[in-house]
Amino acid sequence: KASVVIMAGGRGERFWPYSRTDYPKQFLQVVGEGTLLQQAVRRALRLVPWEELYIVTSEELVDAVRQQVPEINPKNIILEPVGRDTAPCIGLAALYLAHKDSEQVMIVLPADHFIPDEDRFADTLHVAKELAGSTDFLITVGIRPTRPETGYGYIRLGEPYPGEWGKPVFWAKEFTEKPNLERALLFLSTNQYLWNSGMFIWKVKVILKAIERYLPELFQGLKRIEAHLGSEREAEILAQEFPGLPRISIDYGVMEKADRVLVIPGDFAWDDLGTWTALERVCELDGQGNLLQAQAVLMDTEGSVIRAQKEDKLVVAFGVKNTLIIDTEDVLLVADKSRAPQLKEVILELKRRG
Ligand code: GDD
Ligand code: MG
Repeated sequence: KASVVIMAGGRGERFWPYSRTDYPKQFLQVVGEGTLLQQAVRRALRLVPWEELYIVTSEELVDAVRQQVPEINPKNIILEPVGRDTAPCIGLAALYLAHKDSEQVMIVLPADHFIPDEDRFADTLHVAKELAGSTDFLITVGIRPTRPETGYGYIRLGEPYPGEWGKPVFWAKEFTEKPNLERALLFLSTNQYLWNSGMFIWKVKVILKAIERYLPELFQGLKRIEAHLGSEREAEILAQEFPGLPRISIDYGVMEKADRVLVIPGDFAWDDLGTWTALERVCELDGQGNLLQAQAVLMDTEGSVIRAQKEDKLVVAFGVKNTLIIDTEDVLLVADKSRAPQLKEVILELKRRG
């Protein structure tokens, strides 16, 4: 038996001004059919039926989740009073699942990825599910890196793990979350590392054991919540305990420390879409290398990313190179494309000015 848990409580403004802290990336339609969350749900349904599909999110974002995934049983939305990053999120989901069956496999998926080939994704995840069901390891899916990305985790490949699983499986020797550029370049040059895709597959009892061992403070908090799970005081206890849980991601909190980790290389295209310019990797460009998500007339314009929220807004660009032009109802952003990874600075400055 297996359940999928989609983590959809991340906040962020990477696609500002489209995304806002209360309307982050997973709720946006940027590429592919539907929003990133809807695509994640569609992929998850390749693995389990609706009854075994859970979404974890925070109070602040739950309305957007309900609106975008109206088919989900409200009981399958696991609600965090506030987001405390992915370790508490996964811990809470594991508690809910353990309540039913702690031997079951838990497939943890992010809500903010673009994976065009859903068949290959499903093939790989099925293997991961089998492997998790017949071992007591923490299992991840790795992606062959193509650039020294500093926003991802890196997994050092170890020896092959024996057995016929339908896909190659390896021991993970070492896990490094978000290295600096120097280390990322080194990792890339050795050819021995995969990106961590942020997908995790394990038995519920196995991840709870790992949390107990590596994040004892979180484990104690979860224990206090568990005692009231399903009772009428559940919401009250959650509101009391959850905000005080350690704020840490599963990558730093568990994966970097754990030693019984397996990795299955994923043979599908995958992107976390970290910035506006990431869309250039996954969308079709015009003959001049422009990415167009607007009604536009372009003259002597190259290498630009142009998007408008209003369908009938005509964007005209004349003699523009390598520029971001992003138009929403209340904000128009014009920036040199090379600044796309630093959008945070703009948001900070705007906050400073009120
Ligand atoms: N419910 C809930 N609560 N979800 C959360 C929370 C939270 O507090 N924080 C983050 N999430 C969700 C996000 O919405 C996203 O779907 C997923 O968890 C991962 O969080 P990110 O914040 O996007 O992580 P990241 O992209 O910086 O890093 C992770 O993913 C990379 C690949 O995309 C790590 O696992 C990296 O190692 C990995 O390479
Ligand atoms: Mg992410």
